[in-house]
Amino acid sequence: NNREVYRASTYAPVNIAVIKYWGKRNTTLNLPTNSSLSVTLSQDDLRTHTTASCSSSFTDDTLSLNGSPQDISGARTQACLRELRQLRKDVEAQEPQAPKLADMKLQIVSENNFPTAAGLASSAAGFAALVRAVADLYHLPASPTDLSRIARQGSGSACRSLMGGYVAWEKGKQDDGSDSLAYEVAPANHWPEMKALVLVASAEKKDVSSTAGMQQTVASSTLFEHRAKEVVPKRMKAMEKAIHDRDFAAFATLTMKDSNNFHACNLDTDPPIFYMNDVSRAAVRMCEAINFSYDRLICAYTFDAGPNAVIYYLDDHENEVAGTFKELVGGVKGWEGKRGAAVKDGAKLP
Ligand code: PMV
Repeated sequence: NNREVYRASTYAPVNIAVIKYWGKRNTTLNLPTNSSLSVTLSQDDLRTHTTASCSSSFTDDTLSLNGSPQDISGARTQACLRELRQLRKDVEAQEPQAPKLADMKLQIVSENNFPTAAGLASSAAGFAALVRAVADLYHLPASPTDLSRIARQGSGSACRSLMGGYVAWEKGKQDDGSDSLAYEVAPANHWPEMKALVLVASAEKKDVSSTAGMQQTVASSTLFEHRAKEVVPKRMKAMEKAIHDRDFAAFATLTMKDSNNFHACNLDTDPPIFYMNDVSRAAVRMCEAINFSYDRLICAYTFDAGPNAVIYYLDDHENEVAGTFKELVGGVKGWEGKRGAAVKDGAKLP
């Protein structure tokens, strides 16, 4: 019957870049000035859950996030929906019996299990989940890499949340973005010991959006030119090797250097942008102190366009790394979960 509701649900986890995407060469298509590489967090950690439905009885396309209606008239969301509908039309053209879903309005319902727009890559998980939920609803014969081309147009970093594990986003050379895609460097089970601890230094909305910050950086930082041309290409290769070799020391060195280089570029803009705050810098010093105490690199910090720290470490060192942070900030919320409870407190630097 023509009031039937078609539905599909999916999860997409947050990804945190270890080689940062920063700078667009095309703002409409979200084409980056440099390639980037990230680790997709576990679905048990930070993630978006999205259900997409369509029906001929729906009158408008709608999106709600954590129960509040969202504006979907923006060019980014519209680009994703347009591309997905076009692919569905291609399916319908080949299978005349297939229901005409592309002509129906969409209802999209998303839930984040973490604060939105607080520099916790909410847009990455959000657009990845939206694109996959609609692609599943439409039964598109699209691979994660195909979908990454669409999610990228929602939010650049979203293209890396369609795959688990270790994911690279190749900047591509074409002007139409057809080769600006994400691919898997290694699946999560290649190096399953990798853990990420997220320290929320502030859950407030960031003051300079990533789009505005990138624009300002491209326009006014000479350090950024050097980063995009010289620094990142070499680091991408070195990072892929570190991951293939499961070499945590190399992974940690590159991660921390790239975060610092990215924040240095922001400081080099006119006017300067400060994403890190005093709490962020305290987290950097704590990582340094832990690594110094154990006389090797067992943890690595990284910061996106906001003050929150993400600390990578291997499972074996949970007590030394997460335990030390818990001892320091154990009074704050966030340790209630299964993993938080498993982290012992009282780890003291030797
Ligand atoms: O995807 P956007 O436009 O929110 O930009 C993300 C930029 C960083 O998080 C700072 C870096 C990255 O590669 O994820």
